[in-house]
Amino acid sequence: MKEIKVGVIGVGGIAQGAHIPNYMKIPGVKVYAVCDIIEERAKEVAKRFDVPYYFTDYKKLVEMDELDAVSVCTPNKFHKDPTVAALKAGKHVLCEKPMATSAEEGREMVEAAKKSGKILMIGMNNRFRGESQVLKKLIDEGELGEIYFARAFAIRRRGIPSWGVFVRKDMSGGGPMYDIGVHILDLTMWLMGFPKPRGVYGVTYRKFGDRPDAAAGGWGMWDWKHFDVEDFAAAFIKFENGASLYLEASWASNIEKDEFNSYLLGDKAGARLFPLQIYGELRGTLVNITPAHVPSLNSHEEEIRRFIQAIREGKPSPIPPEESLTVQKILDAVYKSAETGRQVRIR
Ligand SMILES: NC(=O)c1ccc[n+]([C@@H]2O[C@H](COP(=O)([O-])OP(=O)(O)OC[C@H]3O[C@@H](n4cnc5c(N)ncnc54)[C@H](O)[C@@H]3O)[C@@H](O)[C@H]2O)c1
Repeated sequence: MKEIKVGVIGVGGIAQGAHIPNYMKIPGVKVYAVCDIIEERAKEVAKRFDVPYYFTDYKKLVEMDELDAVSVCTPNKFHKDPTVAALKAGKHVLCEKPMATSAEEGREMVEAAKKSGKILMIGMNNRFRGESQVLKKLIDEGELGEIYFARAFAIRRRGIPSWGVFVRKDMSGGGPMYDIGVHILDLTMWLMGFPKPRGVYGVTYRKFGDRPDAAAGGWGMWDWKHFDVEDFAAAFIKFENGASLYLEASWASNIEKDEFNSYLLGDKAGARLFPLQIYGELRGTLVNITPAHVPSLNSHEEEIRRFIQAIREGKPSPIPPEESLTVQKILDAVYKSAETGRQVRIR
């Protein structure tokens, strides 16, 4: 089996915590180069994980003939350029979520992938959780019937990232809707069979993020001086097949507790994702079905494993980038609708 050599661009939290260690677990995969604009960090990470090469310019990394694949783990604003450059250089790309900071950037990424014939996968790791995999199978086998409505929540009472540049619009594109709303939106749409969106109505609010006096909670204080994104957003999405989805995302809101969840209504049964439960009928009696066992999967490990497997087997991206582009279009529409006060149509 030919060794697969991987380069990682942007070696902060997610690269060190998930990408690099999970590549290292796979036999025949070598993390061969890393890159970070902070030279000390690139050097230190290379040393710690025994990576032969490090760079401060991603262009140098993607030019390496030896590399087969690249992980892009930079802040959202810097997803598009390294991804397109790596695809052009003939590398497969696993890029962190959200895809980009606009659908235009996302479109460029999809075009580059098409032209290169290489894999472009956006890291929607929550699809690979045990509950998600089990529920998806049940849905695909028809156990819920037609899914006509869903509610999706990625809501925190106080959980504003205190590291990186998440709170800056120019670097991240948006706040919790971009950071965690994107996860539950993608996951819920995937469970629904990825219906085509038709229109989006969105609202955004900033009530805590730029206030030095706001209570921080367990996540600690954030960079309130530079906070210029929303801290709460909600959206109502209508799909071409008649289904609809209500979505909420927050880093800060006065709720009882955090929730990351998806609730689906089908005409045969309904479901809650975490913990997984099915609500249906059994010969005229209403029943709740709780699985006795759901596989416990490390979703980040699974994401990396499937990316490598697709490369080895010459298969398409385990997460079609066109789906990530659709999600990106919805994100754009949420902000546009919030700004204009109108429903935004999606083409
Ligand atoms: N899937 C998940 O669960 C998950 C979790 C956390 C973060 N993420 C995503 O991963 C990305 C990074 O997040 P993080 O928490 O690791 O942030 P981070 O700030 O810890 O790390 C980002 C790193 O990128 C480097 N960088 C910035 N611009 C660069 C450039 N042009 N070239 C090379 N390096 C550059 C920074 O110096 C930093 O070391 C974000 O897009 C975020 O949304 C995903």
